[in-house]
Amino acid sequence: MSTIAIVGAGYVGVPLAHVFAGAGRNVLLVDVQADRVERLNRGESYIEDVPSAELKKHVDAGLLTATTDYDELRNADAILVALPTPLSDQREPDLTILLDATREIAPRLQPGQLVVLESTTYPGTTRERVAPLLEASGLKAGEGFHLAFSPERVDPGREDWTTKTTPKVVGGLTEECTRRAVELYAGAVDEVVEVSSPEAAELTKLLENIFRSVNIALVNELAQLCDRMGLDIWEVVDAAATKPFGFMRFEPGPGLGGHCLPVDPFYLSWKARQFDFYTEFIELAGKVNQNMPYFCRSLISQALNHGAQRSLSGSKVLVLGVAYKADVSDTRESPALKLIELLRKGGADVAYHDPHVPELPRHGLSSQPLEPGDYDCVTVVTAHSSIDYERLVEDAKLIVDFRNATGRNGRVDGKVWKL
Ligand SMILES: NC(=O)c1ccc[n+]([C@@H]2O[C@H](COP(=O)([O-])OP(=O)(O)OC[C@H]3O[C@@H](n4cnc5c(N)ncnc54)[C@H](O)[C@@H]3O)[C@@H](O)[C@H]2O)c1
Repeated sequence: MSTIAIVGAGYVGVPLAHVFAGAGRNVLLVDVQADRVERLNRGESYIEDVPSAELKKHVDAGLLTATTDYDELRNADAILVALPTPLSDQREPDLTILLDATREIAPRLQPGQLVVLESTTYPGTTRERVAPLLEASGLKAGEGFHLAFSPERVDPGREDWTTKTTPKVVGGLTEECTRRAVELYAGAVDEVVEVSSPEAAELTKLLENIFRSVNIALVNELAQLCDRMGLDIWEVVDAAATKPFGFMRFEPGPGLGGHCLPVDPFYLSWKARQFDFYTEFIELAGKVNQNMPYFCRSLISQALNHGAQRSLSGSKVLVLGVAYKADVSDTRESPALKLIELLRKGGADVAYHDPHVPELPRHGLSSQPLEPGDYDCVTVVTAHSSIDYERLVEDAKLIVDFRNATGRNGRVDGKVWKL
């Protein structure tokens, strides 16, 4: 049976492998981390959305294997690339991992193979950066091998829409490249949406993420205005969301987190500059969202002042939830990490509790038992659903809630403060 190889066994690669194996396809996951490969081959999942029991079923059926050896790519019909695409320290696209891996794939590329890039990136990456490196194989893109871009839209932790049920956008270098890629995905996911080029597919993914970033920035800005006006942003968002058309609900919070929203929009603003174009919405949204942890620190400071007659300096603060969003363990770019740094700079004695994140090695912290009464202030930064918030309100001395998890309207009795 033909094999689909997936390079990069992370949040994107593993669910994708699960979907293809679920459709009865042979899947080979290729990753540089030997421990991940060993775990996968034992049928052990480290990605929350893919239960180990299901992964093991695929492994036992001989449908899913993992390797660190790029040579095995030679036997695949299709090679899907799901590697990280971060920003550099200067906040510019850093394609090092992707391009280094592409250089590894090139000498193993076989005539007729289909290569699909799934990593989020700026328009032009597939054609201008990936194709030339693969052509070092001696095969020409669109002739000797097929090349397409298909963005991954998975939202880790989400149950109503999965990799299988979320429509898959596909754009190939040539019509035949698109046809081959559409055929591949149509065998495993519910719906495939064809676009005219890899660039259109690349920009589609960025539009989706920029849309979220800009709308979150809008409510974050209004949350800061509501603070000055003495209004409750949550009440206003709830009321606006009753409009059955023309409004989409976005919630304020302590800032953007995860691999995608704080990073991806800047891939486009960087590329836009090559066209003498400045993407002002992206920059403005970035500025508002990046300011949120600073605003949140000042709210905690204010709450301690007025609610407990204490200064931030010297206060014991428990950060509740450090993952970037509820019910996941991913802490990448989490605003909680920034807030912890800012609170420490302000002289606070910071601890955290997160049932999904046992350690924060870079901060020298490990998750502490949830004993709210031991702290001057508990701040809800990520609202995991397993926490009993009613009990939290009873037991804590002072709460600053950035997620409306305590469900209180207004600053009730000086004990619960909200964004
Ligand atoms: N995480 C998400 O929710 C999400 C959603 C949609 C799109 N994306 C995009 O998908 C891409 C992958 O993201 P992710 O979250 O899956 O990343 P990840 O960090 O979870 O996984 C990447 C994997 O690639 C492996 N790797 C690194 N270098 C390698 C190499 N040279 N060869 C083989 N394996 C290598 C790593 O060991 C890791 O297991 C990114 O472009 C991201 O923006 C992510």
